Amino acid sequence: MKIKGRLKKIIEYIPVGSRVADIGTDHGLIPVYLVESGIAGFVIASDLNKGSLEKAIKKVEKRNLQSHIETRLGDGLKVLSLKEVDVIIIAGMGGILIAKILEEGKNIAKTVKRLVLQPMRDSDYLRKYLIENGYKICDEDLVKENQKYYEIIIAEQGRQKVKKDIYYEIGERLIEKNHPLLKEFLQHKINKLTKILNKLSEMNEKRKKLEKKIKEFEVLLNGLEMPSNSFYNG
Ligand SMILES: C[S@@+](CC[C@H](N)C(=O)[O-])C[C@H]1O[C@@H](n2cnc3c(N)ncnc32)[C@H](O)[C@@H]1O
Repeated sequence: MKIKGRLKKIIEYIPVGSRVADIGTDHGLIPVYLVESGIAGFVIASDLNKGSLEKAIKKVEKRNLQSHIETRLGDGLKVLSLKEVDVIIIAGMGGILIAKILEEGKNIAKTVKRLVLQPMRDSDYLRKYLIENGYKICDEDLVKENQKYYEIIIAEQGRQKVKKDIYYEIGERLIEKNHPLLKEFLQHKINKLTKILNKLSEMNEKRKKLEKKIKEFEVLLNGLEMPSNSFYNG
């Protein structure tokens, strides 16, 4: 099976030999690819929605992967027992929902080696949740597919200090590694906020907040464009 874009990037962060849970698996592409490519020998594919899980079940049966992929119907991490997996993937959901799933299942989440998370929105909320709840963000990635940007957050147990609030919105790891998509991602965010700003007529709190946010993104972008990456000084 071939896999590309967002899903391929997520897979890159799964250490070979891991036991993995894919929470909210839907189409089941991640579990099937993980097993067929030899990255994982055991994957739990789960979903809250019966119709979604059935898509995954069909795929697993068609490929005769039942001895490697267990499908489970249920909410978040409630489908998992302690120490069953090393890595949990939660992808394609909002950041607030991902944080809620981690919070409700923290007895399980806290025992795994790695979380691979791909929020569709509210990534700032998710980063804040992780950092305030005993995780460190050890890596981040960005991928562009069909003109949309996707953020991937890799978290492990640990502590992390956030030096500037803007790093909740733009992952510090992306700045550290000078990610090739970071400048256009920032410009995209500035353009989006400017469009909203231009539709607001009166000077109010909302406008002030938007202007402040745009300025912060511009300062970050300008810093990245300087040869020494001077905005980021550790
Ligand atoms: C948009 S799909 C993402 C599918 C896949 N993970 C991906 O990234 O392409 C989101 C899936 O999450 C499932 N879901 C939503 N809330 C959930 C929860 N609390 N527990 C398990 N699955 C959930 C939905 O039923 C849906 O199938």
